Amino acid sequence: MKDEYSARLISNRKLNEESSILTFFCPDIAVAAKPGQFVNISCSNLLKRPFGICSADPESGLFSIGVREVGEGTREIREFLPDRRVDVLGPLGNTFPIDDADRLIFVGGGTGVYPLFFALSQAVKRSIPAISVCGFRCVGDTCMIDEFRNCSDRFLVSTDNGDMGIHGNVLDALSGISDSELNQSTIITVGPEIMMKNVAEWAFDRGLPCFVSLERRMACGIGMCLVCTCKIKKVGSDDQFENKRCCADGPVFDAREVLW
Ligand SMILES: Cc1cc2nc3c(=O)[nH]c(=O)nc-3n(C[C@H](O)[C@H](O)[C@H](O)COP(=O)(O)OP(=O)(O)OC[C@H]3O[C@@H](n4cnc5c(N)ncnc54)[C@H](O)[C@@H]3O)c2cc1C
Ligand code: FES
Repeated sequence: MKDEYSARLISNRKLNEESSILTFFCPDIAVAAKPGQFVNISCSNLLKRPFGICSADPESGLFSIGVREVGEGTREIREFLPDRRVDVLGPLGNTFPIDDADRLIFVGGGTGVYPLFFALSQAVKRSIPAISVCGFRCVGDTCMIDEFRNCSDRFLVSTDNGDMGIHGNVLDALSGISDSELNQSTIITVGPEIMMKNVAEWAFDRGLPCFVSLERRMACGIGMCLVCTCKIKKVGSDDQFENKRCCADGPVFDAREVLW
């Protein structure tokens, strides 16, 4: 059983009309958290809501999440005021395999940029060269731009309507990366499922390893309720699959295993 903590909200900073970054003081989570993992945050609804960990600093005891408002739970969480105590379960789930990579390319869309930023920060600490590609609907939807730009060896941004960066989606942005930059790179992508599927195909075509972080509706977050199953190919088979728990067996999976 995972521990639940009473975390103190330190700050709640609005990023744009829909999204905010919430920073909590909780040394246990800040020390244990690894890139790719998530936390389950309490709200007045019975079920906690899952959020990828965006940063964690063992020295200060702080960790942060980015929250986009899509419904009742996220609306309430975005309104939390500093000093509030919040029940948090975590860190949960598995991690991005960044330590073994020679070079990394992070590809994020929408709220996927939050967990990717934690991975990018760790890559910087380990001196692993990293290119970041972030895609958004429009300039009003963008977030973490300065953070990604400052930490990445190269940073590309795309918007669907072209009002910031490359006009198009992340695949249009990826086409601007040279073969020598791709060489030996591992791709890590988080965002809408269709985006991750297309990025995974792009990576396969170039013979590059690719890892994705799947999102499912979740309840317990710890592998007990089976609400969050996803179809993962059986080893050595292209058409046989098994149901895995996104929360406990994932959320990070090798893209070759995912039955989209
Ligand atoms: C592992 C994981 C990591 C996540 N990380 C982040 C993050 O870093 N930042 C962030 O803003 N959000 C993240 N999410 C999504 C977030 O948990 C949901 O948006 C939130 O639970 C919705 O709660 P709600 O009460 O506001 O919406 P609800 O009223 O429950 O739903 C509103 C709408 O959102 C959709 N929705 C709800 N939950 C999910 C989900 N899990 N996946 C896709 N669509 C959903 C519903 O289908 C519905 O259309 C993550 C989800 C998972 C599973
Ligand atoms: S949310 Fe309960 S098993 Fe995954």
